[in-house]
Amino acid sequence: MVYEATASAPVNIAVIKYWGKRDTKLILPTNSSLSVTLDQDHLRSTTTSRADESFPEDRLWLNGKEEVIKEGGRLHTCIKELRAWRLEEESKQDSLPKIGKFKLHIASYNNFPTAAGLASSASGLAALVASLAALYELPQSRSELSRIARQGSGSACRSLFGGFVAWREGEAKDGSDSLAEEVAPREHWPDLQALICVVSDAKKGTSSTAGMQATVETSPLLQERLRIVPQRMVDISTAIEARDFDEFGRITMADSNQFHAVCLDTAPPIFYLNDTSRAIIALVQELNRASAANGGGLVAAYTFDAGPNAVLYAPAANMPVVIAAVNKYFPQAGEFADPFQMGTGAPLPAGFNENVVGGGWEKGAVKQLIHTQVGDGPRHLADSESLLDAQGVPK
Ligand code: DP6
Repeated sequence: MVYEATASAPVNIAVIKYWGKRDTKLILPTNSSLSVTLDQDHLRSTTTSRADESFPEDRLWLNGKEEVIKEGGRLHTCIKELRAWRLEEESKQDSLPKIGKFKLHIASYNNFPTAAGLASSASGLAALVASLAALYELPQSRSELSRIARQGSGSACRSLFGGFVAWREGEAKDGSDSLAEEVAPREHWPDLQALICVVSDAKKGTSSTAGMQATVETSPLLQERLRIVPQRMVDISTAIEARDFDEFGRITMADSNQFHAVCLDTAPPIFYLNDTSRAIIALVQELNRASAANGGGLVAAYTFDAGPNAVLYAPAANMPVVIAAVNKYFPQAGEFADPFQMGTGAPLPAGFNENVVGGGWEKGAVKQLIHTQVGDGPRHLADSESLLDAQGVPK
């Protein structure tokens, strides 16, 4: 008998950013956050977990490369807690196979290159939790599972759901109420799309984990941000509820700007945006200004995480213009494989100021565009999708 399960989980991109921990061990945040789950058909992590009596130790491979599961580390904590839930079920139900005590082999694979600079930890940890929950047939809800994923990487808790997801900061000291919940499913607003602009970045920046702790310790501006975020959480949820892209986009851009402002306010300052990132901001601002001058609404909204990549959100109808604008000013070296086949030739809005972004952007300042849409939560996959061979090592 093979005890095994395979699951995939999506990437999520926050529109209200998580930046700061009040408890670094339990990963409890200083503020609630809210994200959009992106479509797994385009970006996903897949994980297979197998429990077997013959395995002498827990082992894990990431994209084919074995990683150490450090005692007391984040991965170790996630595995330990899920195993404890299984053992509890086994003690309650005699008929359950006693697999909780078996060691595990876990293989995880991202279908997007780590070099693309996209946070893979959120989808990776969510896939790990989803595959173990399936293997162990745990009765816990997705929100309860999100509490475990949170301890692997804060933002991972939001990848346990599709659509629009809030991570409620909670109040309890033990973290029991710091979990993710669905604000709206993908079906509520399927029209919302995302364009990820992968910006070249030679040097490795400050990690999220280190950066946010430095901000908590040194930034006076963070205190002001913490007063502002609660109302933003309410306002953006209302905008999502009403499918109001103008309001959704306005709050998204304001929150991205404020997150990068508290980074600059950190000592020493942290810079995640580069010249290309700022030029993309100027481009989106000009598209929105020209549209407003023509009596139209917001065309697109930008948001940036702990790196120079831009994620642009826009309703599907606006995407051809967004793609055409990005493509005109930031031509990529390679071919743009657009699953929605919108082309790159849409005309820019009347009155668009061609000089706003400045010229001279070298080919490849934006390396790659990834066009996707709001997506669903983790999926339990068929056995045929297993990443492990008969011996229990990656295929
Ligand atoms: C800027 O979840 O990667 O992407 O909890 O230390 O693992 P750790 O940090 P992580 O931080 C993500 C920060 C962010 C904003 C966000 O996703 O909300």
